[in-house]
Amino acid sequence: MLSEGVKRIDHVAIVVRDLESALTFYRDMLGIVPSRVLEFPQEGVRIAFLPLGGSGGSEIELLEPSIPEGSVARFLEQRGGGLHHICLEVPDIDRALDELRAAGARVLDESPRPTAEGRGIFLHPKGTGGVLLELVQRTDGNPEKIDTTP
Ligand code: CO
Repeated sequence: MLSEGVKRIDHVAIVVRDLESALTFYRDMLGIVPSRVLEFPQEGVRIAFLPLGGSGGSEIELLEPSIPEGSVARFLEQRGGGLHHICLEVPDIDRALDELRAAGARVLDESPRPTAEGRGIFLHPKGTGGVLLELVQRTDGNPEKIDTTP
């Protein structure tokens, strides 16, 4: 078990073909104002961050493939977009990884990878009830204060 537990739902990531047309729903109809849009070449995506609930809230992340050969592009081609993963925040990602590995969880990363929010690991859907699950340790714990400069 994670000795330090899970803090909160950090974000829900949705793959879309085109950020701008997805924003005509999320921004223009739901009224969620994107805090930023950034290129994240490590994962081959552009990400629009849609914060909810103010400081300490959660985010919806819209992922648009930025390279045709990336895993998100493949996901889009195979499934036509949709829910990609759910992310939970943990206080210490290295410790979480050690504890999950020791407990036999199906972790997809050998070590935490750089993410748009901090450092994270992914868990295989076969062990999580069918959803790709990310755990992240935020760089400073506050979604609105993260420096996302690549
Ligand atoms: Co994520």
